[in-house]
Amino acid sequence: MATDDTTYRWVKDGALGPGRMRYGADYNPEQWPREVWQEDVRLMREAGVNIVSLGIFSWALLEPRPGEWDFGWLDDVMDLLHANGIDVDLATATASPPPWLAKRHPEILPQTIDGTTLWPGSRQHWRPTSPVFRAHALRLTRALAERYADHPALVAWHISNELGCHNLYDFSDDAARAFRVWLQDRYADLDALNEVWGTAFWSQHYGEWDEILPPRAAPTQRNPGQQLDFERFSSDAVRDHLRAENAVLAEVTPGVPRTTNFMVAQNVRDIDYASWVDDVDFVSNDHYLRPGEQGRDDLSFWANLTGNLSGGRPWFLMEHATSAVNWRAVNPPKRPGELVRDALTHVGHGADAVCYFQWRQSRAGGERYHSGMLPHAGADSRVFRDVVDLGTQLRDLAVVTGSRRERARIALVFDYESWWVSGRDSHPSESPAYDVETLRWYRALLDLGVRVDVVPVSTDLDGYELVLAPLLHVVPAALRDRLTGFVEAGGHLVTTFFSGVVDEHDRVWLGGYPGALRSLLGITVEEFAPMLPDERGALSTGAEVRDWSERIARIEPDVEVVASYRGGDLDGAPAITRRRAGLAGGSATYVSAAIDRRAAKELLHDLGRDIPALTPDPLAAGGSVDVIVRTGRGGRYVFLANRTDDEVAVAAAGDLIAGAARRDRDDALVVAPRGVAVVAQTRDALPA
Ligand code: GAL
Repeated sequence: MATDDTTYRWVKDGALGPGRMRYGADYNPEQWPREVWQEDVRLMREAGVNIVSLGIFSWALLEPRPGEWDFGWLDDVMDLLHANGIDVDLATATASPPPWLAKRHPEILPQTIDGTTLWPGSRQHWRPTSPVFRAHALRLTRALAERYADHPALVAWHISNELGCHNLYDFSDDAARAFRVWLQDRYADLDALNEVWGTAFWSQHYGEWDEILPPRAAPTQRNPGQQLDFERFSSDAVRDHLRAENAVLAEVTPGVPRTTNFMVAQNVRDIDYASWVDDVDFVSNDHYLRPGEQGRDDLSFWANLTGNLSGGRPWFLMEHATSAVNWRAVNPPKRPGELVRDALTHVGHGADAVCYFQWRQSRAGGERYHSGMLPHAGADSRVFRDVVDLGTQLRDLAVVTGSRRERARIALVFDYESWWVSGRDSHPSESPAYDVETLRWYRALLDLGVRVDVVPVSTDLDGYELVLAPLLHVVPAALRDRLTGFVEAGGHLVTTFFSGVVDEHDRVWLGGYPGALRSLLGITVEEFAPMLPDERGALSTGAEVRDWSERIARIEPDVEVVASYRGGDLDGAPAITRRRAGLAGGSATYVSAAIDRRAAKELLHDLGRDIPALTPDPLAAGGSVDVIVRTGRGGRYVFLANRTDDEVAVAAAGDLIAGAARRDRDDALVVAPRGVAVVAQTRDALPA
């Protein structure tokens, strides 16, 4: 776990790298008169801001007419920021094309599933596969790179912005052409495609490549294999755009690190970020707190996944909100303590930069009610005071930078394709939602008081004691073999209903469910038994079941029934099973029903009798605290995130280096409601 340069692929003359926590925001000075810029930099300094993302939506001002550049104002902003010690993550400014481009080339405009054109007047109105848009975007990228290559404020490139946020699915003719090329690369011949898409069904057999279309609006259910490939293609098409801008920047400014802000969280589910990581010099992510009681744990979940997408290396929190957003049905402000709590939770999971959308709350435009670091009310406000307080805490956390997320003994597998496919239409039920089910198990683990890594499915599972893979719906043969190998080598696996059912083409594995995992789990399910919205079932353990149950018709002799159904048509049938597998003491547990978080915790608690990784950590204070750990050359940093609205006392050794906490008379650390305490343990003080 060295804090050396290999930790970052993104150090540039020490400007962006270990030794300083990055703090800042998207900065949109073009929305304000120049005199406001002076106040901006003064208040940025007061808050401890040391980096901003600039120019994200500036194309129309940088190139007001085709080929006519106006860089003067941006030069001035770059100089002003530099003079005030603030570095720049400079956008390539291609996220939102100017009106003249759409007027001249309406063929860049994306089309929705039913052929509706997405017109200018908002943002991101471009087809990822449009050759015309691509050429213009690369022209702008090159012009910016050449202009600012040697500017001392430039420390990183911000490629486009949230690629695919609004234009991931484009069903235009450009998309159709590119989709066919993508399919030809993947399948080479049409017979192979016809076979895996199952086109014998409903007379869908293709005789020529150019008969294939994106899965546009159709009379009824569309081909599942075609939909899945279109999702993969769309994720790859947007990544191609990233690669194209990346290549220009690599050529003109090879020494400047490049990133693009992912949306690993809930907003856009259909991008496979695990396949994007190698295309950036450092991982960046945007996260917006879900309102409601699950919000904090949800944040921890996605930050955890981001840290593991980044391979445990530090990453950059590019956007979150100081308080309310403006795009949900109701947008409550953050509660006291949450601004700092959210930021430090991200830092615990490996963020070495804490940035917001945006610096100054807009006066006009669609985001005028979205919070910023500097609200409409001005600097004399709760939000700005919290912003200044956070800046101080981040300075104290400089020591943490460069350290890595400490690996846990439990992995929770997150599989993008299972997310996409399990939520498809024409299924036994629309109810089970992949993100809800995975979050439920994450929360059950936190309730128990154990640490877990949320990992992309491609992660090497060696070294984990327990792997949870809820609703792992898509299981190709290679994944089945990896999971089987893991269990046979002594690992423990817990998986849940509707798992293992289909292969990588969304074709059902035959012989009974859970398909690919049937022999590993030692059970055969003959029928799914999804439940109506007001129906409730029960297990022998007392657990309530809603939404989903299954009839396990057969179990192998070496399978133990951990719980059975009680009442209803499934009365007495096995509901939770466990098979001891291999000679090394591994096991494979199957939960055939959707059980609630408390029941999930109880099951994990019981499994803890012979899975040591499930032994609660005393620092978790019975599940009240989310314990997150980073380790580096300097020591071990334990982030104790209070999940409750009450103070929590924890017997934590070490120096309190940041956060909302105090020591009581017994030397216990009392963490404030919704607070995060950061404790440094030196190497010598580490537990053996
Ligand atoms: C992001 C976007 C920002 C801003 C923010 C508001 O999707 O990148 O530009 O719109 O959302 O929450």
